This record gives sequence, structure tokens and C-alpha cells, in this order.
Amino acid sequence: MPVEIWDVRDFTPAQAKQIGDLIAQVWPKPHLTAADRAEQQLALSREFRGQLGLAPRSLVVVEDDRVIAHAAVLPREIRTTQGEMVIGGLARVCTDAAVRGRGLGELVVRAAFGLVDAGEFPFALFQTNHLVRGFYEKLGAVPVQNTIINSLGDGPKTCPFWDEVVLRYPGGDGWPSGTIDLRGPGF
Ligand SMILES: CC(C)(COP(=O)(O)OP(=O)(O)OC[C@H]1O[C@@H](n2cnc3c(N)ncnc32)[C@H](O)[C@@H]1OP(=O)(O)O)[C@@H](O)C(=O)NCCC(=O)NCCS
Repeated sequence: MPVEIWDVRDFTPAQAKQIGDLIAQVWPKPHLTAADRAEQQLALSREFRGQLGLAPRSLVVVEDDRVIAHAAVLPREIRTTQGEMVIGGLARVCTDAAVRGRGLGELVVRAAFGLVDAGEFPFALFQTNHLVRGFYEKLGAVPVQNTIINSLGDGPKTCPFWDEVVLRYPGGDGWPSGTIDLRGPGF
């Protein structure tokens, strides 16, 4: 199935709703309805409109006007021991519970990693848990061992990621050692 790339600057209310519906299904939260999730997407769109540079994108598989698989790529300028680097932050990777196991998660993550392969970002960076890390490792991601901080946060020495493991893509050389400053919240 084709993967569509939706630039956050061009999100329509219908697209925001489709993404919001899936996110609300996969990560239900009593205080966040599907409409709230859609509004979050539109807020992201409003915030970014008019800015120059790489925009966040959603990589999606659509079936019958529903987004059934999703991955967000959020460009983030991080500070490393080798200087500043714009990485592709991977977030909100999910497949509709009714269609898991059909290769759709792999499709959207491969499309996100494809942006790295095409040279748009030197690396993708993201967090996950031990249950799902194998899914990403199969696609070429490897864990990172760096201390990760957010110098702009309330606790500048606290890791801004909250999940069990941080991964990068691709593996191999070029990833800096030492502290990584996300210069913003985790994603
Ligand atoms: C993780 C998730 C996106 C996988 O989506 P999916 O569409 O079912 O995955 P795919 O069908 O593309 O699976 C691709 C491969 O990964 C494997 N895989 C799927 N989920 C896995 C997991 N949790 N751990 C290890 N491997 C996994 C599949 O077996 C398949 O392997 P194969 O090609 O050897 O058969 C989906 O289970 C999901 O939405 N989970 C809830 C949200 C979540 O945890 N997202 C990750 C946040 S970091």
C-alpha cells in the first residue's frame, strides 16, 4: 500500500481528524478525546506555518478515508559533542489495532527511515519500550547509550525521554559519543 507524506504546514482539518482518531484509539486518555488529538495536529500546523526549513511530517497509510498506520517525523536541532545536528525525531508510530501484523507499521517506519537514507537527516532518533524495540531493530535501528538532556527544560540534567530505550537509525559510524542535548522536550 502507498505511504502518503503529509507536511504539517498543509494539514487539512480532515487529515488532522484522521490522525487524531487513530492516535486516540491507540493511546486512549480519558482527558484527551479524538477531537483533542486532531486539534493538537492542527496546532502543530498553525505553529509551523510560515517557518522556513524542514517541517514535521506525518507518514500515513490511508484506507477508506481512515489513517490506519502513522509515523511522525519531527525535525529537531540537537547539540552534541560534535556540534549541532538536525535529526529526524520519530514519534507516534502506530497501526490501527484491527490491522496489525500486515506490515503497515513496517511500511511507515521504513518510509520515515527513507528520509534519512535520502540524506534529509543524518539520523532518526526516538524512544520506545522493550516490547517494541525488536520491531525497530529489525529495520536497522540500534540503541544509543548517550546521556540525554534538555538544557532548556525545568530539570536540565533530567532525560527528556520517558520510555525504556532510545534508538537511532541507522546503526554504524558517525553517531557522536557523549551527552546529547535535545534542546526541547522529549517526543
Ligand atoms: C508496534 C506497531 C506499530 C507495529 O505495527 P504492525 O503494523 O503490527 O507491524 P508490522 O505488521 O509492520 O510488523 C513488521 C515486523 O515487525 C514485527 N513486530 C511487530 N510488532 C512487534 C513488536 N512489538 N516487537 C517485535 N517485533 C514486532 C512483526 O512480527 C513483523 O515481523 P516479520 O516481518 O518478521 O513478520 C503496532 O503494534 C502498534 O501500533 N502498537 C501500539 C503502539 C506502539 O507501541 N507504538 C510504538 C511506539 S514507540
